[in-house]
Amino acid sequence: MNRIYLDNAATSHPKPPRVIEAMQAFARTLGASPGRGSYRESIEASNILSRTRASLCRLVNGADPNCFIFTLNTTDALNLAIKGTYRHWSGKAEPIHVVTSAMDHNSVLRPLDSLREDGIELTHLEADPDTGLVDPSRVADAIRPHTRLVAMVHGSNVTGTIQPIGRIGRLTKAAGIPLLVDAAQTMGHIPIDVQDMHVDMLAFPGHKGLLGPLGTGGLYVRPGAEQALATTREGGTGSLSEQLSQPDQMPDRFEAGSHNTIGIAGLEAALDWLHEEGVQRLRWHEETLMSKLIDGLDSIEGVRLLGPRNLEDRCGVFSLVHEFMDPATMATRLEREHGILSRAGLHCAPMVHETFGTIDSEGGGGALRLSIGPFNTSTHIDHVLEAVRSISHSGMETAVG
Ligand SMILES: Cc1ncc(COP(=O)(O)O)c(C=O)c1O
Repeated sequence: MNRIYLDNAATSHPKPPRVIEAMQAFARTLGASPGRGSYRESIEASNILSRTRASLCRLVNGADPNCFIFTLNTTDALNLAIKGTYRHWSGKAEPIHVVTSAMDHNSVLRPLDSLREDGIELTHLEADPDTGLVDPSRVADAIRPHTRLVAMVHGSNVTGTIQPIGRIGRLTKAAGIPLLVDAAQTMGHIPIDVQDMHVDMLAFPGHKGLLGPLGTGGLYVRPGAEQALATTREGGTGSLSEQLSQPDQMPDRFEAGSHNTIGIAGLEAALDWLHEEGVQRLRWHEETLMSKLIDGLDSIEGVRLLGPRNLEDRCGVFSLVHEFMDPATMATRLEREHGILSRAGLHCAPMVHETFGTIDSEGGGGALRLSIGPFNTSTHIDHVLEAVRSISHSGMETAVG
């Protein structure tokens, strides 16, 4: 039985072949740490980092390649943005209020929660229970004199809902509050322009929509926004080694320790592939699959698809619940009987499931998630719809007796 990978929201698979080739070439012929030596291999390793920053900058219209900080994943980037903001303001003994939303992932919610006992005040904005959209006017209403950060997910990893970041960005810019956007599900899947959207910090994975390897990610920090961001880790940078304090210059200020250079070599190759294909063109391909999946799932008796139906408000992440069958059973049957790889449960986003009323569904709660990537095809979607229809039908028959 062929396997159909539909868990691209967790990490993308497969990767373009050149990603693996670039990593092998790095391991075989370079292997050196960037910025740590004046020999050719170390210089070439530094060049890989510089070229990858430039490629990221071009992808999202960043202001400067040195505004891109390499991290381990999105979670690492979000922790830097959230805790760096906290450290900046708490160092000045200033009160701190942060606005986030019920649509956010635990990678935002948990770092924020961990700061509660240090006195941080939080507002979790509610979302529409049908679409998952957060009304930008709620952001405006939530802002207080000591609001230091608005942290908002771009695309939901449960319902696929895309938040109106451009509109929220206009509001936060006018209020002079930094906007941190979690682009875990949108980077590489839909065009992003950080300047046009007034994004101050963009946290993103290298290993999902950008099609790089696991262990890669980054944080874009708008020029000037680093002034309100303290370091959360300090250490060797290969620069200004005579000084005991962390260098101020970007990106060294936030990149202590040796890099995952082999991973970044893979990411560079993945970005080359993305630039050649074009994110907009890949999005059109995903939109074709998304339309088919929405129409198909909506026509299956007993299945409830969560989130928006119109394509402008969503990305290729779909969650569904069944009237009579729990998500975990559906996921197991999809794999065992049809070779389809999906993910059941709460998807590290409990407040999304509270919003949609799926937190306590039978079988451990949550929903069944199917998430597409650029290498999925229309035939995959046909196969998935057939499989969900057949499993759903048997669930209905068992329930009815
Ligand atoms: C919306 C969202 N934010 C953050 C993360 C964490 O991403 P990472 O695995 O790159 O740390 C995920 C991962 O699934 C996600 O979907």
